[in-house]
Amino acid sequence: MLMEVLPFLIFCYTSISISFFSEISNAADTITPTQSIRDGQTLVSSGQTFELGFFSPGNSKNRYVGIWYKNSPPAVLWVANRETPITDSSGVLTIAKDGNLVLLNQAQIIIWSSNLSEVAENSVAQVLESGNLVLQDESGSSSKSYLWQSFDYPSDTEFPGMKKGWNLKTGLNRYLTSWKNADDPSPGNFSYRIDNLGLPQLVLREGSSKLFRTGPWNGLQFSGVPFSSNTIFNHSFVYNTEELYYMYEDNKNSFVTRFTLKQSSLLQRLIWNKGSSEWTVVYTLQNDLCGSYGRCGANGICKMNNSPMCMCLVGFIPKSPQEWDVLNSSSGCVRRVPLDCQKGEGFKKIGGVKLQDLLQFWLNKNMSLDECKVECLKYCFCTAYANSDIRGGRSGCLLWFGDLIDIREFTQAGDSIQDIYIRMAASEPELTDESNKKKKPVVVILVVSISIVSGVLIFGVIICCLIWKKKTRERGKHSDLPIADFLAWLLWKEGKALELVDAVMEDSYVVCQVMKCIQVGLLCVQKYPEDKPIMSSVVVMLSNESVTMPQPKQPGFFTEWSFTDTNLLSSNEKGRTEDPVTITVLEGR
Ligand SMILES: *[C@@H]1O[C@H](CO)[C@@H](O)[C@H](O)[C@H]1NC(C)=O
Ligand SMILES: *[C@@H]1O[C@H](CO)[C@@H](O)[C@H](O)[C@H]1NC(C)=O
Ligand SMILES: *[C@@H]1O[C@H](CO)[C@@H](O)[C@H](O)[C@H]1NC(C)=O
Ligand SMILES: *[C@@H]1O[C@H](CO)[C@@H](O)[C@H](O)[C@H]1NC(C)=O
Ligand SMILES: *[C@@H]1O[C@H](CO)[C@@H](O)[C@H](O)[C@H]1NC(C)=O
Repeated sequence: MLMEVLPFLIFCYTSISISFFSEISNAADTITPTQSIRDGQTLVSSGQTFELGFFSPGNSKNRYVGIWYKNSPPAVLWVANRETPITDSSGVLTIAKDGNLVLLNQAQIIIWSSNLSEVAENSVAQVLESGNLVLQDESGSSSKSYLWQSFDYPSDTEFPGMKKGWNLKTGLNRYLTSWKNADDPSPGNFSYRIDNLGLPQLVLREGSSKLFRTGPWNGLQFSGVPFSSNTIFNHSFVYNTEELYYMYEDNKNSFVTRFTLKQSSLLQRLIWNKGSSEWTVVYTLQNDLCGSYGRCGANGICKMNNSPMCMCLVGFIPKSPQEWDVLNSSSGCVRRVPLDCQKGEGFKKIGGVKLQDLLQFWLNKNMSLDECKVECLKYCFCTAYANSDIRGGRSGCLLWFGDLIDIREFTQAGDSIQDIYIRMAASEPELTDESNKKKKPVVVILVVSISIVSGVLIFGVIICCLIWKKKTRERGKHSDLPIADFLAWLLWKEGKALELVDAVMEDSYVVCQVMKCIQVGLLCVQKYPEDKPIMSSVVVMLSNESVTMPQPKQPGFFTEWSFTDTNLLSSNEKGRTEDPVTITVLEGR
């Protein structure tokens, strides 16, 4: 049967390709609305660098449309129908009536589409010399924007000129996902993307759990990817109000590099010297043990040059000495002297580290280091602070609450090293910084007199903060509000609000029903207007015993807040947002 059909098919293909390619002899990189390519045919970019065609991965017989370097050793850079393979060689890539680039199977059913949001009359698909497959309007409007581009939908590989990261205007996030296995390009369990929470950082995840991160962007580089120069490629990182992305370009024409998230979860840069027969690994991003996320547990620090490599941060001791003795540090460390929020607490500086993960944190890009310290001391919950930007004179303030996760030490000296300041109890022997005798805000001292049991204390602080906040709302000091909102919400979420009541009921300072006050308070700081009660219902809520109130969600703060509040952009940054900020950095190793 097949033997009978085959000659006919070959004849068909030949006549199609002849008429197609002879008519438009230089257009072998393009599909116009009347054209298509079939399995076996390819498009080649104008400079002969990239090729698009059908392929079968590994031992699979399934057919996929992909892009690769023409003449390179096998390495598929991009796959169109990752999740919808064609099971035979009948696939056709063409332009549909609505302008979409579509892949049809034998039954003429669309199994993959560029999914344009609007109908496009005369769209043309083209493989560019960059390896980008683009769909644009044939009427050739000079506008450079594409209707669709493959660079917006990466597979497991990043190659030169591709943006990895966010278009902040549309919310599009371009990131890598591993293949499921060598025979199946559909998305596997690993992803590598830019997290955009306050400060950007690149995070490798398996499902939702973190495996590796670069550390937050500190103005010069990602704090966990040490500076090291190289001659093979340069990187740029663009971070303004419209875009947030990472991109690289190769420095020479004699080779190309690609950066791939492998099925094994390894992030590798590979190089192909043109003419050579293989891709060679240049480096693997997570190639030392300290790279593995949270290796040394909560409040631990990982030091490659140390044996054992896990240690507790200064002022902390192993939570389970027996486990640490057998080199199992996963339970992490606890304070030698608990914080009690008493006078005289201070900070111990640790230099040259990858900043701990941004889990429960707060960011103000306009504060100095001294202001940052004062801010941290206002909250018993605040455990560390650091500059958020280490360029020039160093600026900005990051506060952390709770445990400190995934800190590692770097040994290189230089301007690009990052310091953190870890809070110490007044009686902690390590605390030598005596300069910190500033008077604490009244709010904290009041609470201290209520209770000194630390857990309870924190709840007390929050109540006071909330009440205090209401009283001081007019002061307009933004930075006080979101922290208190956030902490209160955390406790509410954990169902600890009752402890909160116990903690303060004895004290006449709180006159309203505490639970209610807090719930209403939380509702008032919701992110979306529809979640916020109107004033008249607040009155009802507070005066009526039996009324049921909605459960608060997480308050609107941090990300939304930090990107909409102009206070948080330094004047420098605001000035620059007209033009993209391009900073060249060199990736480690
Ligand atoms: C296009 O849209 C369809 C239907 O919403 C969806 O199933 C498919 O995954 C989309 N394809 C791509 C490539 O995004
Ligand atoms: C991905 O994760 C799921 C759930 O944990 C697991 O069942 C599956 O085997 C994983 N897939 C691969 C390719 O590792
Ligand atoms: C990176 O190198 C390429 C090729 O040498 C060059 O064209 C490009 O401008 C460089 N990019 C940056 C940001 O320096
Ligand atoms: C390390 O200790 C934790 C308990 O804290 C335990 O669950 C885990 O299995 C231990 N890991 C190893 C490798 O023994
Ligand atoms: C940033 O801080 C400086 C001094 O601390 C202040 O003068 C300036 O107004 C602040 N900028 C914004 C946008 O708040």
